[in-house]
Order: sequence, then C-alpha cells, then structure tokens
Amino acid sequence: MATVLVVGSGGREHALAWGLARSAAVDRVIVLPGNGGTAAFAPARPVDADDLDAVVAFAVAEACDLVVVGPEAPLVAGLVDTLSAAGVLAFGPVAACARLEGSKAFAKAMMDRCGVPTARWGTFTSAAEALAWHDRVDFPVVVKASGLAAGKGVVVPDTAEEARAAIVEMFDGAFGSAGAEVVLEERLIGEEASLLAVCDGTRYAVLPAAQDHKRVGEGDTGPNTGGMGAYSPAPVVAGQEAALAEAVIAPILAAFAADGTPFRGVLYAGLMMTADGPRVLEYNTRFGDPETQVLVPRIASDLYELFVAAASGTLDPASLRIRAEAAATVVAASEGYPGAYPKGRPISGVDAAGALGDVVVFHAGTALRGDTLVTAGGRVLTVTGLGTDLREALSRAYAGLDRITFDGMHARRDIGWRALDRSSS
Ligand code: AMP
Ligand code: GLY
Repeated sequence: MATVLVVGSGGREHALAWGLARSAAVDRVIVLPGNGGTAAFAPARPVDADDLDAVVAFAVAEACDLVVVGPEAPLVAGLVDTLSAAGVLAFGPVAACARLEGSKAFAKAMMDRCGVPTARWGTFTSAAEALAWHDRVDFPVVVKASGLAAGKGVVVPDTAEEARAAIVEMFDGAFGSAGAEVVLEERLIGEEASLLAVCDGTRYAVLPAAQDHKRVGEGDTGPNTGGMGAYSPAPVVAGQEAALAEAVIAPILAAFAADGTPFRGVLYAGLMMTADGPRVLEYNTRFGDPETQVLVPRIASDLYELFVAAASGTLDPASLRIRAEAAATVVAASEGYPGAYPKGRPISGVDAAGALGDVVVFHAGTALRGDTLVTAGGRVLTVTGLGTDLREALSRAYAGLDRITFDGMHARRDIGWRALDRSSS
C-alpha cells in the first residue's frame, strides 16, 4: 500500500488528497503544511513547506511513494527536480517547464515558437519602452507583471490613462520583482475557460473543461480574487476539449520534449474564446484552484494510478474515465477578501453540509484551534455539489453552503450564471 504526500494548503490540495485517499492502492495521504480539513488525513510533523530540502527529507523519511505538488511557487523553485534527484517520484513539472508559469515573457515566446494562438504582445524591462509601445499600438492593452505575483499581477485597464498608470506602477515595484519585466498584450474579448491536461512528457489525457469566477462580485464585477467558484462541464467549450488540446497542449509538450526537459504534470491553458477563435491568455503548470474542486470529483479513474503513470512517463490517455455528472463549487470567503481579512473566527456547519448527499466540503483557509475549526485565510472553504446537470450540482453546492456560517462570511450567489443563461436561452 502506498503513501502519498500532497504539498500545499488550499482547497485544491484538500481535493487532491480526498481523491488520492479514494484509491485502493493508497493507505496513507499526508498534506504538508495542510489546513484544518486535511488534518483528518495522516498527521504531518511540522515542516516548513517553503524549505525545499526539508520537504524532500520529510518525503524520504516517510517513505513516500509519490509526491504531488499543488502550488506554483515550489514548482518554479525546483521542488520536483530536488525530489527526483533524491529518488522520490513526484507528480509535477521540473523547474525548466514550470517557467512557463513563472515567466509570462517566457510563456509568450514559447507560444509564438509553438504556433499557439495568443494575444499580440510585447515584453519590456523599462517603463519608457513599454509606454512607447503602448502609445504606438492601435489596440487596448492588458498589463502583466512577468513573474509570479500570487495571481494578482494582471491589470485590465479601462482607459489608455489607466494603462499608462499601471505600466508606471509596475516598474515602480507594485508587484515587487515580479514586475521587473512587464508583458503588454492586446486586450481580448470573450468568455474564459480552463483546459487542463495530465501529461507524461509526450502523451496527455485532457480533462473536461472548467470555468472559474475570478471577480469577487456577482455578475463578474469588482476586484480579482484567487477564484470564487467553478463548474464543469463548461458549455462554452464542452465537447471541443480534444481539438483545443491538439492546438494548445500538444505543441508545448513537443517543444519541451525536444528541449530535453519533458513536461510531466498538469498543463493548464487559460483560454479566451474570442469571435476569432480560442486564444491562450496564460499557462499554469499545475491544477487550478478552485477548478480542482470540480475536476477531481468528476474523475472516475484511480487518481493515484493516473498520477504515477504521468510521473513515470507511462500514461495511457485512453484509460482516463470521467463521470457524467456535472460539478459546481462555491467559495466561502472571509470578510474583506480579497483585501485584508480577519482570522480566527469560529466556523460551524461543515459536518452538516458534508452529510448532505453529493456534497463535499473542501477546506482552504481553515485551522483547528483545539477542537474548534476557525478561519485562517481569505478563501475559507469551497463547497462542491455533484448532480445530473449543472443546475442540480449548483443547487446542491448552495444547499451545502447554506449550512455553513462564520462571522463575516461572503460568497457569490451566481456561480454558473453564464452556463445557466446558455441552457435557458
Ligand atoms: P492571467 O493571470 O494572465 O490569466 O490573467 C488574469 C485574468 O486577467 C484573466 O483570467 C483574464 O480575466 C484577464 N486577462 C488576462 N489577459 C487578458 C487579455 N489579453 N485580454 C483580456 N483579459 C485578460
Ligand atoms: N483558478 C485559477 C488558477 O488556479 O490559477
């Protein structure tokens, strides 16, 4: 029987651990550093999850058969390279591949090299050059810090003045060193979708598309967040996944393989479905959060076998089985999120929500204080519902959410609205 270590502390990692624990081959799942919900799996000794060597030493000491790395920062820092060097099997890309997420300038150059459709772009290391390009082009631009900025380094300005101000602020250090290089690109119009594929270096198994909701407010208004909810299938691209993956996943895998650094792990294309066809907005080199909370419950295959095959380069894409049910997840967030928020507020109703049929509560920013579950982050819980269609999945997710309370909790009540509009029109 296998021991699996999941690295990370969010709802994504809880969902991965939950899926892995269902495998007949797995008897122990450890989540490091984990959260108040993942404490129910095997306990982890306190280890600094940001210290790569400490994580590797932990994986070796616990005789882990597989390490699954959730977030981008340790991937970009080379955790998978270090684990592999220590002889530990890891699911996730090496640093040379994670650069696709760690540097937007690298990603844009890779897309051009591979013929992947994307917005017209330029990359700059000084405000003067960026402003000159901005003033020259005849389309509205989006301003992006090239480096990792915890999902916050993108500004979508409404006017040329706002765009110029965003450029100046980025070079003034608004996103720290992530903004030392800035990507400007054409602003695209359309509906977004997330296309994720499990890759083994040369082959890939594409997952059904999902859609998340990045804005904090209903009707997709207000500031961007890490994601307030998600659902799958995503009607805007449902049924087109294989063709889309052929255009945006396959060429990237071929390029990394040709470079001698095969991509193993999850390759996630953030797509904009424009009137002129699909365009890639960005690549992530990991599972999405909260997309994972709807995708993992839809995967009928053994998750452990799937990840081991991908990590070992022996994936059989035909073996991936997906449940027909739809899934939807709603995030319960702390007061003030995505701005500053309080911590330590007691949470009730999680067990009652989880006791409903076809409802799973995944923990994100939670902690245990003695026996009491308290808030410990901005996104606190994600409540997933499954159903025969999206409407049923959403009503189950909200039935679960309605059992849960904590002081200042807020959630969007309109997750899935685009898909429901589509099905009723
Ligand atoms: P990214 O981190 O690159 O996915 O950007 C975050 C969000 O900014 C995306 O999910 C989009 O909503 C928006 N965005 C990024 N690039 C563009 C673009 N070229 N045109 C319009 N919106 C964009
Ligand atoms: N949900 C978007 C992301 O994980 O980047």
